[in-house]
Amino acid sequence: MVDVLLGLQWGDEGKGKIVDYLAAKYDIVARFQGGPNAGHTLYLDGKKYVLHTIPSGIFRSNVQNIIGNGVVIDPTILCKEIDELSTAGIEFLSRLYIAQKAHLILPSHRLLDAVMEASKGEGKIGSTLKGIGPTYTDKIARHGLRIGDVFLSDFKDRYDKLKASHLRMVSAFPTIDFPLEEEESKWMESINRLKKLQFVSSSYFINNALKQGKKILAEGAQGSMLDIDYGTYPFVTSSNTITSGVCNGLGIAPQKIGEVIGITKAYCTRVGGGPFPTELNNDIGEEIRKAGGEFGATTGRPRRCGWIDLPQLKYTIMINGVTQLVMTKADVLDHFDTLEAANAYNVAGDEIDEVPFDMVTVCPEPIYKTYKGWKSDLTGVRKYEDFPAELQNYIQEIEVILGVPFSIISVGPGREQLVIRSAFN
Ligand code: GDP
Ligand code: IMO
Ligand code: MG
Repeated sequence: MVDVLLGLQWGDEGKGKIVDYLAAKYDIVARFQGGPNAGHTLYLDGKKYVLHTIPSGIFRSNVQNIIGNGVVIDPTILCKEIDELSTAGIEFLSRLYIAQKAHLILPSHRLLDAVMEASKGEGKIGSTLKGIGPTYTDKIARHGLRIGDVFLSDFKDRYDKLKASHLRMVSAFPTIDFPLEEEESKWMESINRLKKLQFVSSSYFINNALKQGKKILAEGAQGSMLDIDYGTYPFVTSSNTITSGVCNGLGIAPQKIGEVIGITKAYCTRVGGGPFPTELNNDIGEEIRKAGGEFGATTGRPRRCGWIDLPQLKYTIMINGVTQLVMTKADVLDHFDTLEAANAYNVAGDEIDEVPFDMVTVCPEPIYKTYKGWKSDLTGVRKYEDFPAELQNYIQEIEVILGVPFSIISVGPGREQLVIRSAFN
């Protein structure tokens, strides 16, 4: 079966750390969507790694890692990631596979992303500017380039044609500073390096592995509230970040999906623009940002912080078919006297517990329940029974409301800083 691990909020829930831990129990880890807009952080022997395109199973020496066909790849960024891992002494190239059908992010896609965002002014999405939107746009418009195309004899002609179409579009916008030629030469050099890697059809690769009884973990990027169809549109990314994206992104049938493991922080964050009902624009939000080190792993931008939002989580649990929950960053709330959790929304005087059609125009006002803080250091705790009663109460009340149990609670960024409540697999 293909188990899935994905974010239930607006991204950065700690997917990288949990995939790295769980990967030890799997044969293959597969990224199925998104691209280098993702920044998945994990710590190994005290050293920090941030992965953008390479799956977070890469540090487990028995695990194969595949960048699936739903992913969009920037060759320059991928080569940089490869170099960083190689410099750190990680042996991984024989275990890394790239789906031929994954689409390529061109330098001119990034240029387009930049001019389009700049033109939006106040209404900008807050894109990571990695060229994600324009690349998926070209895929859907049926004139994108796939990484498998680099072996075609007319690849350069196809590249030039696509770039020319981008430049025509760019000319409609005010000019910005972008070193296109410099970026292109790095990109072409990277393409030549990537040609030596292992290219596969992700559908045959994954389905054959399933036939052989191998265990596969699909690693989500971004979060369910950033899904192109079900997120807070238009403040979303351009791919399907939810469970259904696994089928499209890897080429597997829905009945092959096993466990769906949803991750949430003990609170909530968002980076970039768009609605965020439980956002705290005050000292408490600032305190969470500081305690949680809430700055983007890809862009370094400060993340917006707020309380956990249960109607929002119920919604993403529903659309993903979540079977188990992971709570990360519980330790970040160690110093708070009290915590809040949104149980429902007030929309024009009505109490509702559903996410409204358009959170941009109907910004729901959260109705909170207050919980007593635990005021103790969780970072060294490894057993659920050793958690303070206040935290156990917070977890247990939330899981009853959500209707899905928490299997893992993370209490620090380190690989071993976990409390496992029930065994996976
Ligand atoms: P991802 O994109 O979902 O993989 O998450 P990011 O890597 O962007 O952001 C999560 C951040 O929280 C990273 O800096 C992690 O090292 C860190 N982190 C993960 N789990 C925990 C935890 O339980 N406690 C603390 N304090 N930090 C954590
Ligand atoms: P991981 O995998 C958090 C956000 C951006 C922006 C919107 C669109 O690390 O959780 P895009 O670059 O896709 O055009 O940006 O989505 N965003 C993320 N926020 N974590 C991510 O990835 C994100 N990837 C994109 O900030 O608001
Ligand atoms: Mg991240």
